[in-house]
Amino acid sequence: MLPPLLVLAAYLLGSLSFAVIVSRTMGLADPRDYGSGNPGATNVLRSGRKLAALLTLVGDALKGVVAVAVARLLNLEEPWLAAVAIAVTVGHMWPVFFSFVGGKGVATAAGVLLTLDWRVGLIALGVWLLMAALFRISSLAALTAAVAAPIACWWLLPGHPALFGAVLAIAALLLQRHKQNLLNLIAGRESKIGEKAKTAG
Ligand code: G3P
Repeated sequence: MLPPLLVLAAYLLGSLSFAVIVSRTMGLADPRDYGSGNPGATNVLRSGRKLAALLTLVGDALKGVVAVAVARLLNLEEPWLAAVAIAVTVGHMWPVFFSFVGGKGVATAAGVLLTLDWRVGLIALGVWLLMAALFRISSLAALTAAVAAPIACWWLLPGHPALFGAVLAIAALLLQRHKQNLLNLIAGRESKIGEKAKTAG
């Protein structure tokens, strides 16, 4: 009975869209109304409010950390741990509290990966940071990190098919959520990290 409840709790936790919560609390414009329209730290940064973006990043990442850490503390079997990891990410992407209009899952997935296996998390984070430093495009960094994560998991966690399946599923969801970004990248019109949106208020 407990594991399915934890999966549900993880989905509900993931549904707390910190981009919207932080922006509302700080009296800022709704991130779904400017820039890429994505409720995520990258887009909140386009409002020019670095603190709001940082709080969004930390809040969204902590959702992944807390969900997986609690599942681990309660000694959930790996398939249920995997389900919790996927559920918190799905909650972020399709939040029940925000009309199922959520973010792209990068910060939450980072929290999930770092807590599932810190080595896999660090590799994904390292790829993100390297790509961001080189190209200063958040989505490009996220797309490459999403490809790197399952490869790192396959390499570092042999004999853990459920965890590999979870990381692969999360990576696939992330890629799917970045469809528009991919089209923008191909067209050369993806904005750089920190560039302000005209309509952020
Ligand atoms: O973390 C989200 C990022 O990868 C893309 O965000 O706002 O540029 O679509 P955005």
